[in-house]
Amino acid sequence: MKYHALIPAAGGGTRMGGGTPKQYLPLTGRPLIWHTLKTLTGVAAIDHVHVVLAPEDEFWGGYDWSDFKGRLTVWHCGGATRAESVIHGLRALQSLVAGDDWVLVHDAARCCLTVEHVGKLLAEVGDDPVGGLLAVPVADTLKRAQTDGRVAGTVAREGLWQAQTPQMFRYRMLLEALERMPEVTDEAGAIEAMGLHPKLVAADMTNLKVTWPLDLQLAEWILANRRQ
Ligand code: CTP
Ligand code: MG
Repeated sequence: MKYHALIPAAGGGTRMGGGTPKQYLPLTGRPLIWHTLKTLTGVAAIDHVHVVLAPEDEFWGGYDWSDFKGRLTVWHCGGATRAESVIHGLRALQSLVAGDDWVLVHDAARCCLTVEHVGKLLAEVGDDPVGGLLAVPVADTLKRAQTDGRVAGTVAREGLWQAQTPQMFRYRMLLEALERMPEVTDEAGAIEAMGLHPKLVAADMTNLKVTWPLDLQLAEWILANRRQ
């Protein structure tokens, strides 16, 4: 039984703005996704890393990826949504992976992931019958808004977690779940829809998803301070 990484990187980064998809924005002198790939190709237990790009991606070829030679395959099969990109990527792997192999799906935009984060996920989920995901318990008090921007009420935060990635599930189960429920925003959501209960593995906020312009500065700070 093997571990494979699948990285959806076919998004347009509309919330980030600008003409360049966020996975290619410069971060400490490299395209953002380079940092994501550096971590996942650096996990010895992961057999191979697969990246899903948009069919029309014009950016990938402009960079040097030789750091990851032999550890990385690129697929130009992204779809209109993240879930579609993951489904297309999983189908592309059909002849390369076994049904019971683990697939770790990880957002290209979570570029501050560490080998330690992945190690914790593998240790806590590696023999789980369902699978699991990195996540963080909600720390703030949560408010539900009315349409006029005022507070309608407070949402109890007890037991609430913010889902991150990687999310790891068995190949066959994951593809079947996503094909049944392609409107989900993460893999766990599709598994939940089958009546199963993925395991939550506590991570931390440094595994942020770069979404808004300020997140890029936060990611830069996190990477720079780790290096010291
Ligand atoms: N993604 C993808 N295919 C899509 C949409 C998203 O592979 N059709 C990927 C993104 O490239 C990203 C990850 O899924 O690595 C998480 O998505 P998100 O943060 O929403 O990125 P974007 O969709 O690019 O950003 P936005 O929603 O702001 O447009
Ligand atoms: Mg998106």
